Amino acid sequence: MLMEQTLILIKPDAIEKRLTGIILSRFEALGLEIAGAKVVCATEELLREHYANLQGSPFLDGVLKFMLGEYNHLPDHRIHAFVLRGENAVARVRAALGATNPEKADPWTLRGQFGCIKNGVMQNAVHASGTPEEAQREINLWFKPEEVLK
Ligand code: TYD
Repeated sequence: MLMEQTLILIKPDAIEKRLTGIILSRFEALGLEIAGAKVVCATEELLREHYANLQGSPFLDGVLKFMLGEYNHLPDHRIHAFVLRGENAVARVRAALGATNPEKADPWTLRGQFGCIKNGVMQNAVHASGTPEEAQREINLWFKPEEVLK
């Protein structure tokens, strides 16, 4: 048994559509446990750090604008952040998300169901860490140690 933690972020498109509860219920149905939960008013600095792997990519600016809620009708920069814990959590959560491109994601996945491409940005509803190492880095970025269950 491989107990893992992973970070998920509910993105502004999904917050606008009030999908946080539906998305979380899918992970709960998979038997994953919520080990951390918060609403974050994201800053560009935090998002640049989060998306450090996209440094230099032509779509980074669009992604930052999207993640700051500029394409959605939110009064602030809110992101819903969760730490999920469970057996093989990283891979299982990514499988539930589907492909990065919502137009290519299988229709039964979260991104396939709820994502779209708008303003040249993949508005794909949810972020989840890609590897256990990435998960640790991202959890440390979005959460203080005392905000996550041991
Ligand atoms: P990436 O880290 O490659 O994908 P994932 O979120 O599946 O780990 O990319 C980060 C985000 O950037 C992705 O969720 C949506 C956006 N993006 C685009 O808008 N266009 C693109 O061509 C790619 C690859 C990503």
